[in-house]
Amino acid sequence: MNREDGTTGTVSAAKGFKGFRVVAFETRFAQEMAKLVASHGGEPLVAPSMAEVPLGQNVSAFEFAERLFRGEIPVVIFLTGVGTRALFEVLETRYSRAQLVEALGGVAVVARGPKPVSALRSFGVPISVTVPEPNTWRELLETMDASDRCPDVGGLAVAVQEYGVPNGELLQELKKRGAQVLQVPVYRWALPNDTKPLEQAIQRLIGGDCQVALFTNAMQVSHLFQVATQMEVTDRLREALSDVVVGSVGPLCSQALRDAGLVVDLEPQHPKMGQLVAEAAERAQQLLAGKKAAPLDTTRLGAEAPGAATGWDKLEASAFMRACRRLPTAFTPIWLMRQAGRYMPEYREIRAKNSFLELCKNSDLAAEVTVTAAHRLGVDAAIIFADILLIVEPMGLGLRFEKGDGPSIDGMIRTHADVKRLREVEPEESLSYVFDAVRKTRAGLRPDMPLIGFAGAPFTLASYIVEGGASKNYRHTKALMYGEPAAWHTMMASIARSLVKYLNGQIAAGAQAVQLFDSWVGCLSPEDYREFVLPYTRQVIQGVKPGVPVINFSTGTSSYLETVSEAGGDVIGVDWRVDLGEAWSRIGVHKGIQGNLDPLILFADPATIRARALRLLEKAARRPGHIFNLGHGILPETPVDNVLALVDAVHEMSQR
Ligand code: CP3
Repeated sequence: MNREDGTTGTVSAAKGFKGFRVVAFETRFAQEMAKLVASHGGEPLVAPSMAEVPLGQNVSAFEFAERLFRGEIPVVIFLTGVGTRALFEVLETRYSRAQLVEALGGVAVVARGPKPVSALRSFGVPISVTVPEPNTWRELLETMDASDRCPDVGGLAVAVQEYGVPNGELLQELKKRGAQVLQVPVYRWALPNDTKPLEQAIQRLIGGDCQVALFTNAMQVSHLFQVATQMEVTDRLREALSDVVVGSVGPLCSQALRDAGLVVDLEPQHPKMGQLVAEAAERAQQLLAGKKAAPLDTTRLGAEAPGAATGWDKLEASAFMRACRRLPTAFTPIWLMRQAGRYMPEYREIRAKNSFLELCKNSDLAAEVTVTAAHRLGVDAAIIFADILLIVEPMGLGLRFEKGDGPSIDGMIRTHADVKRLREVEPEESLSYVFDAVRKTRAGLRPDMPLIGFAGAPFTLASYIVEGGASKNYRHTKALMYGEPAAWHTMMASIARSLVKYLNGQIAAGAQAVQLFDSWVGCLSPEDYREFVLPYTRQVIQGVKPGVPVINFSTGTSSYLETVSEAGGDVIGVDWRVDLGEAWSRIGVHKGIQGNLDPLILFADPATIRARALRLLEKAARRPGHIFNLGHGILPETPVDNVLALVDAVHEMSQR
């Protein structure tokens, strides 16, 4: 009989946990969880991981309300939709909604973006200022400054609604303007008072005493690791969890697990506790056997249980992801650098109404452009629509793209003093529009289409911020490098730190792999690359979340590819100036290789394109780990039909 939670009451003899120890972290339904596990033949070990903070304990929220009612707070900033709702929920335990709405009606209410706007509207709160996209703290303050519905904050009390991590830059900037900032955090969950059961569960996991771990919400992951951190066993716990079957109730929870560096083995068809236990029971034996046989080759699981593959399984099963991991594929995957761009009529149409930067900063449009290009071309991976130079803005420099002239950067960095004013980037704030675009793209892409995040490599970015734009001979860049090496190293280290945060942000938002573009590093000698660049490229690659493939792409480096490869990367991207077969043997076949058709071949006829593509496939000897690509980006004048012909030819001719 079907129960309300979606499980069936009986377990077939062949399936079920068969005595496996199943650890779970459910709190509110801890007993039900234990019963469910037992009914499926498992040994339950349920360690409640959360304690609900009573709404009434949110002292600062009530303080805020009291001061608001006394007319002491003329400006209130709402930062998030969830937080706004949570704040109302807390305050409505003591005051009526009408009271709150009336009090807020008399002050300047600032809403950062559409989510707080819709929350406030649903409560009937009039909004004075709405911050436009990308609604970082900069737009927020600029909009407040420019609005006649918001008073000058100097000397005034300004309340800032917070949920989770406080927005440090915003608070600091408000204080700089003379505001008296009142932070209004809302807490919903804390660690349980008694963390012993969690500690015991961690110890048993580490001791190899569990076979299955089930997570029923995202907060459990963070609490589990908080306790593991206190016990100083984070790495051991992560290792232990990689040996057991990890089940997650749904996408948010899975994301939290992946963010913690874990692999999710199973997500049920419907995000329900009962369903999770039932499906885990059904597949645990098989999943565990698969894990022991080949830890990386999770794709077999999808093949053995058709239709049961989760989104994550599908992505990992894709030809692109498998090639990144040098696993055999049914055909050679292909994608093209600059695959979304001016050569495509769909792009030109959107571009006609928006400047390039507007397009990058509008996450809906950026997602649309990314998805359209990938689906239309039939390639095997999408690359997020953005630019390597976006990061220079939050570094404190100006960025313009002028027609025909390419990019230009204001406030160039040429001396030690300049390097000192270079800001380190906090991308969650300043580049949140890229992360939004990644999230929206991930949601719009076919579930088996991996999404590549990217950034400029430290040298190429340095060349832009030192030269102020493109360059022929990199005179200023090299002058700084040779003339003020200490300043150079400081600058490169700072860029590298910013890049690590930026790339991991893209991964957290939903990118499956990342590429570093070192487009102009080929202007250096091998020794200079080793001394002035390699440590920083390596720093970035080593900082990328473990398990996420990194493609290390550069051009003009054929004479020292081995050194480039030493900097790291699962896949080395090469230009067409080098023979692919030779390049691969120099790099070593323990790495993947990406490339390397001359983009100008796309101006020839389809038969020639096909013949050249075949030659390349032969050079790669159809060995696992080749990702077909151009040697550099598609040119704007390239005929779309030729691009389509290339993609088809590669798919067809590389069938194994
Ligand atoms: O590959 C993709 O489809 C994703 C998007 C992407 C763009 N730029 C979009 C873009 C990627 C991955 C980049 C990377 C990039 N940007 C690099 C490294 C790759 C390479 O080609 O070496 C570099 C050096 C840049 C800096 C940059 N941005 C240049 C030199 C230009 C060209 C200026 C011009 O007018 O041609 C850009 C602009 C740019 N970036 C465009 C696009 C689609 C064209 C802008 C437009 O529509 O006018």
